[in-house]
Amino acid sequence: MRTPVCDTLGIEFPIFAFTHCRDVVAAVSQAGGLGVLGAVGFSPEQLEVELKWIDEHVGDKPYAVDIVIPGKYEGMDEIDPAKLEKQLRDMIPQHHREFVQKLLHEHGVPELPADEQRRELLGWTAATAAPQIEVILQHPKVRLVANALGTPPEDVIRQIHDSGRLVAALCGKIHQALRHKEAGVDIIIAQGGEGGGHTGDIGSVVLWPQVVDAVAPTPVLAAGGIGTGRQIAAALAMGAQGAWTGSLWLTVEEAETPPAQMESLLRASSGDTVRSRSWTGKPCRMLRSEWTDAWERDDTPDPLGMPLQGMVTMEAIARTSRYADKGRAQAVAFNPVGQVVGQMSEIKSCRELIFELVEGYVEATERLQSLQPE
Ligand SMILES: Cc1cc2nc3c(=O)[nH]c(=O)nc-3n(C[C@H](O)[C@H](O)[C@H](O)COP(=O)(O)O)c2cc1C
Repeated sequence: MRTPVCDTLGIEFPIFAFTHCRDVVAAVSQAGGLGVLGAVGFSPEQLEVELKWIDEHVGDKPYAVDIVIPGKYEGMDEIDPAKLEKQLRDMIPQHHREFVQKLLHEHGVPELPADEQRRELLGWTAATAAPQIEVILQHPKVRLVANALGTPPEDVIRQIHDSGRLVAALCGKIHQALRHKEAGVDIIIAQGGEGGGHTGDIGSVVLWPQVVDAVAPTPVLAAGGIGTGRQIAAALAMGAQGAWTGSLWLTVEEAETPPAQMESLLRASSGDTVRSRSWTGKPCRMLRSEWTDAWERDDTPDPLGMPLQGMVTMEAIARTSRYADKGRAQAVAFNPVGQVVGQMSEIKSCRELIFELVEGYVEATERLQSLQPE
């Protein structure tokens, strides 16, 4: 399974694991893949704590961090995070806030403690990602910085390159891949519509080979719908240099997924997900729920754009994850995951999962070889 990106990054297998959980990052990198920490939900101070912990637990292995600077969002011209947050808060209709409170109340989700400090605007703007990048670049074991939802700005690419690291970016369409390549992105991640989290609507099997051809010789990682070694073999057969996975790592032993959420994921089948704008303002694949249905109805508010909708729903994410097993919280909880959820039915350790992926890949390639005439 060795491809050129393995040598570039100093990893054994081209298996990339996106996760919000530091234990998973360290365990995957230790097992020979590349753990990728999703930074969007962390304040710069908390991100520093997480990266320091990973540095101490990853041994001499590399890892990666993922930030979110969308190509388009409300308030793009403001670069001061505090001013941007104030400006955006004034744009949110009261009706949206009331609708969220009503949904949480109807499902018996308890309120947060009154004295708890909460941030509404996460790292998904250039203004809020900039201090995160400052933190990331202080950590030498971070070899790759990936960006979601757009081509990273020129100065961000330069800053990461000047520090000796590589830049990756996700895309769901060929023209986005070409824009990344033109901007100097080193590795392009082509994510098919079946993937978890923010995603387009072109399927992986159609998207991957087209992106590989369009940006050659820039390396492409295949994302969206990869849950077995067989699927990795298919991706590499189409010219990808590795597999970028996300959903799989929600149900590993090391993940901090609350038990009630784990249960929802293990039970779900591939038909149970939907692309919905109801949590972040951009289409994101997640488990279909009473929450996603509620935002679709004609008599309810339409989701706002990014990052406004995320500010409206921030409290709901905090309440449904802290009180995941209270009332009917799971029916209105944020459960981003891809169609591959239907293949996730037992809890394994990261090491077991990596081993299984490699073994499945070897079996698949042997099967193909056995089809060759003698
Ligand atoms: C829970 C969850 C959260 C995600 N959040 C992000 C994110 O913040 N940034 C990002 O680049 N990708 C994010 N993704 C997408 C993953 O990086 C990856 O591309 C995707 O999960 C691949 O498809 P798969 O879910 O079928 O493996 C997320 C995916 C999941 C499942």
